[in-house]
Amino acid sequence: MNAISNPSRVPPSSDLAVRFQTEQAQDAARVDALIDQAFGPGRFAKTAERLREASDQRMDLSICAWSGETLVGAVRLWSIRIGETPALFLGPIEVRPDHRRQGLAAALTERACEAGLREGDRIVLLVGGLPIFASQGFEPTPPGRVALPGPVDPRRVLWRGLVPGVLDQVQGRVAGLKAA
Ligand SMILES: CC(C)(COP(=O)(O)OP(=O)(O)OC[C@H]1O[C@@H](n2cnc3c(N)ncnc32)[C@H](O)[C@@H]1OP(=O)(O)O)[C@@H](O)C(=O)NCCC(=O)NCCS
Repeated sequence: MNAISNPSRVPPSSDLAVRFQTEQAQDAARVDALIDQAFGPGRFAKTAERLREASDQRMDLSICAWSGETLVGAVRLWSIRIGETPALFLGPIEVRPDHRRQGLAAALTERACEAGLREGDRIVLLVGGLPIFASQGFEPTPPGRVALPGPVDPRRVLWRGLVPGVLDQVQGRVAGLKAA
């Protein structure tokens, strides 16, 4: 059992009978269905989706939360760069309505970030609400520092450095990264 799937590592704030596992190829359709339920077809129009289309999914960092055989939450991460600096893009993240407000999104986010840090990743960027992600160490990107490949509310462009000081010099256009 690796650290991600070890239930003892669930943050103390969440008393969840949930099993965490990295997303497997056979999980993809169920994760897609959960995403569709949460966001609807409009998600394909979003700038975040354009970025994901140009990126490789990091299967080693994308995590599913299972209650028995039911998929109750999931987060996906992607390889990007900000200017010349490699980074991760987090999203979408979604939790089944009957499992919300129990700390599950926070647990998924923290596990993904911990796993990224172990793999040598240093920066996580996302487009989302600060009230949801502030407690996970995310903060708004300073005005003008990063440019996404399409329209986005700049107040929702958040990032987190996984080691101190790593965000200090980072700036530029955000682009997807794919293996050659
Ligand atoms: C957003 C979502 C993933 C949150 O999942 P969750 O498991 O209920 O979230 P958690 O219980 O882990 O809460 C994490 C933090 O977000 C806050 N939060 C959760 N839902 C919120 C909401 N609808 N509005 C504002 N804050 C919210 C919690 O208060 C908590 O803050 P805290 O850590 O400072 O106490 C879930 O509601 C969802 O799937 N929504 C539909 C898809 C979506 O909007 N995804 C996010 C796109 S940015």
